[in-house]
Amino acid sequence: MRILSGIQPSGTIHIGNYFGMIKKMIESQDKGELFAFIASYHALTSVKDKEFLQNNIFEAAVNFLSLGMDPEKSTFWVQSDVPEVLELYWILSNHTPMGLLERAHSYKDKTARGQATNHGLFSYPVLMAADILLFDSNIVPVGKDQIQHVEMTRDIANTFNNTYGDILTMPEALVDTNVATVPGTDGAKMSKSYGNTIDMFGSKKITKKQVMKIVTDSTELDQPKEWENCNVYKLCELFMCEDELLELQQRYATPGEGYGHFKLSLLDKINEHFEPYVQKREYYIKHPDEVKDILKFGASKAKKIAQTKIEIIRDVVGLCK
Ligand code: ADP
Ligand code: TRP
Repeated sequence: MRILSGIQPSGTIHIGNYFGMIKKMIESQDKGELFAFIASYHALTSVKDKEFLQNNIFEAAVNFLSLGMDPEKSTFWVQSDVPEVLELYWILSNHTPMGLLERAHSYKDKTARGQATNHGLFSYPVLMAADILLFDSNIVPVGKDQIQHVEMTRDIANTFNNTYGDILTMPEALVDTNVATVPGTDGAKMSKSYGNTIDMFGSKKITKKQVMKIVTDSTELDQPKEWENCNVYKLCELFMCEDELLELQQRYATPGEGYGHFKLSLLDKINEHFEPYVQKREYYIKHPDEVKDILKFGASKAKKIAQTKIEIIRDVVGLCK
């Protein structure tokens, strides 16, 4: 079984990315053959600054490696080091009805939030389809917001296969329904585009600032508080075991503590959770050449598979002699 997923290097990775995707991706190394890449081409839809992009690609690589990505067991590369995907993107574009792209939620959301539109942003799901289909992926672990893109990939693959025969493998999205959408500090979906994130490896000071910013109601200290719809509690659910959550519910119900106290408990749990990875991360930051070699090795493995598949596709559509 082949599992594939990608992450965009368009900003600092946050705990929404971690619980929505990275954690599952790392765990899936024991469940099948993992293909994981840093979606550098996708990031161009929003990032227009060379250094910012390069730093984010490096940071994403360091974070994945620190969190347990095993480059021997899995194939881990930077998308743009295997440009064959762009050829498939173009071929698939010709099997993608305009209406399909016009219905994409993520495009509509991004434009509604004021992101400047361009053709890259609009046709982004076709590139994502190419990523998935080039590697004959069976399973695609993603957050809830990406399910539609995997469905679009299936639609595109279907149209292509109806024309040329059974060439493309039909993928399935894998979503962990327990943590489908991690809320941000304002209660909306946590997203680097919305400025409501909590960093995974931020300095203690920054993480504290982000946690203290979480929006709550204004129930006074001497009143019992409701945990059910509280953003602080929702985030605690990601880090605490059942017993710890029951204890926290008790604290909410008992007057005397305020949301500031619950936020500090959350902060402790966040720091505790990521602490074991900090040392490895510092090692990779000090050894950038090692990181680059790992990515090059991954690209060479991915390229072999991509070249074989693109030759088959070129042939069926009539581009080979
Ligand atoms: P962002 O919204 O911050 O730009 P991306 O779109 O780059 O994040 O998402 C990278 C991966 O992380 C995707 O698989 C996405 O579904 C997942 N993800 C992002 N934000 C969240 C969230 N708030 N909750 C759960 N998963 C998320
Ligand atoms: N679009 C995904 C995101 O923003 C990133 C991505 C690009 C991806 N290509 C992919 C995810 C292929 C899974 C499979 O999160």
